[in-house]
Amino acid sequence: MELREVIGRRRSIRFMLPHKPVEPEKIQRMLEAARIASHWGNVQSLRAVVVFKDSAPQEVIDAITAPVAGFQIRIAPVVIVWYVETAAVDDQSNRLRELMKAGALGFGAEKEAALERQLIPFFDGIRERLKAPGLNEMDCGQGIAQATLMAFEQGLGTCLLGGGNTDKMHKNLGLPESARILILQTVGYPAESPEAGGQRPRLPFESLYHMNGYGKPFPRSQAVVEELEADHLIQSPAPTPWRETELDYLKNALGIKGNGLI
Ligand SMILES: Cc1cc2nc3c(=O)[nH]c(=O)nc-3n(C[C@H](O)[C@H](O)[C@H](O)COP(=O)(O)O)c2cc1C
Repeated sequence: MELREVIGRRRSIRFMLPHKPVEPEKIQRMLEAARIASHWGNVQSLRAVVVFKDSAPQEVIDAITAPVAGFQIRIAPVVIVWYVETAAVDDQSNRLRELMKAGALGFGAEKEAALERQLIPFFDGIRERLKAPGLNEMDCGQGIAQATLMAFEQGLGTCLLGGGNTDKMHKNLGLPESARILILQTVGYPAESPEAGGQRPRLPFESLYHMNGYGKPFPRSQAVVEELEADHLIQSPAPTPWRETELDYLKNALGIKGNGLI
């Protein structure tokens, strides 16, 4: 699949084949994609524990719950627990030194002295603030997005789920104090059709993006829209006419009780 089509295909897959294991190599490719994502100061605070349901200890599986549409945890063969390692910020000076050695930061004969004199003290001064929710979360999101695209490129589906009892998860997974759990990501082979009902609704382009200041919508070229439709990045809006029938089928096949909302 071309990148554009992978992006178009990337939608939350809530229905997985519970009996079909996911190859660890495919998960590794997701993690490799996450690892090379950009991060402020090259701090690399994104971490994960990958839980394979067929081999994880029971107390780990018991701790992984989600309050919204939580049935997904039960049917997914793999759940990735993504977290921020806030202690990574403590080592930021070394990341900056590495960046400089790699030729990515600064120039000239004096650059190493300037790094020690200017930039490192600047970041040291705001270190605790930099550990708080904010920039790290955004950068972790970039890594998770890359992992997600890699999953779809390999024929997998995923859905991000806000975690339930993160204290219990923290404890049962043995995470360090400095870890802040971000999100759970189910991973598996889709039980749904590839279009999964079609493109989920989005607010109008013009209401989201501005040009040269707030209030002047970024002009949306119809030619670009048609190009992206041809490349399958923009796909048919949901729902497909047979989506409700598909949902009934999935509910029965996967033994999902109730209305599927909680
Ligand atoms: C940070 C984040 C948390 C989410 N949490 C949940 C969740 O707890 N349960 C769920 O069913 N979907 C969850 N989703 C999926 C969204 O509901 C979904 O992205 C949205 O409905 C749009 O659908 P799409 O991803 O297919 O485009 C989450 C998505 C994100 C990005």
